[in-house]
Amino acid sequence: MKIKRILSGMRPTGKLHIGHYVGALENWINLQNSGQYQNFHLIADYHVLTTGLDSSNIYNDSIEMLIDWLASGLDPNKSPMFRQSKIKEHTELHLIFSMLITTSRLERNPTLKDQVRDLNLENMSYGHLGYPVLQTADILLYKGEVVPVGEDQVPHIEISREIARKFNAQYGEVFIEPIPLLTKFSRLVGLDGNAKMSKSLGNSILLSDEKEIVKAKLKKAVTDPQKLRKGDPGRPEVCLVFSYHKKFNSEEINLIETDCKSGLLGCFDCKMKCVEKISSFLEPIIAKRKELESNMNYVLDVLSDGERKGKLEAEKTISDVRAKMGIG
Ligand code: TRP
Repeated sequence: MKIKRILSGMRPTGKLHIGHYVGALENWINLQNSGQYQNFHLIADYHVLTTGLDSSNIYNDSIEMLIDWLASGLDPNKSPMFRQSKIKEHTELHLIFSMLITTSRLERNPTLKDQVRDLNLENMSYGHLGYPVLQTADILLYKGEVVPVGEDQVPHIEISREIARKFNAQYGEVFIEPIPLLTKFSRLVGLDGNAKMSKSLGNSILLSDEKEIVKAKLKKAVTDPQKLRKGDPGRPEVCLVFSYHKKFNSEEINLIETDCKSGLLGCFDCKMKCVEKISSFLEPIIAKRKELESNMNYVLDVLSDGERKGKLEAEKTISDVRAKMGIG
């Protein structure tokens, strides 16, 4: 069977939370370990600038994210990991691709419309409008065929397919149209009940949170507002703690559902069960993280090795592109 190429990335926002894991990272690791794919993973450090110009944390945030990737099970011997800003070919391909799509097509991007609403963006930069064009360069530079992402990224991959098609039609076949691969739990609800777990909303559990912290955070989590005390019948379908049990405690899920509905299980006890499960899931990740933190030279080596491997692929693609276009 032919090994397919995977390219996926994340914007570096520092330490990751369990929503990142469930929505993307877990999928990357499973695909990496399936033996059917060659993964490449990108730290999208230029994309960060689309929503804020302050660049003072980008480097540290990138390293923290890389440590979480490694601690969770991405294997640098199988999956090169690199920063977008280190491989200049991203900017070149982005520029070429920016000519192959209209501004009105980019303005119709639903993910962008959501962002404009959520972040109250009045004046969007030219670069922000072109976010999916840079993302397309990220994918196609490595000839990515499969892109495991969350639901909100699907419109971007559609744009990538259109740009690949347009390039091939105009200059000759270079690119494969990539396809998105969605995860089963593509989104984890935040601790406050917000549809999205997010660091900036302060409603997340980090992959690096010790048990005491997980406990303190879960204690404050919102449950079914109609279940005021133990004994009251609860509605698991509206409870976010139940949604965490679904992911982290699937063996007990039926029991929890029955006991919540009958009133036998109170919210406090239910939360404490959830703390146990999430913490035992996090324990090995935290241990690995500590080991990596005490061996920063290794972490930096992983990055420079990934950047060397990424660069080789990127150079090949750019020289194909230039040859087909007859430029340079
Ligand atoms: N846009 C993605 C996100 O916000 C991050 C990203 C950048 C990406 N480049 C990519 C994802 C290439 C997949 C492929 O999550």
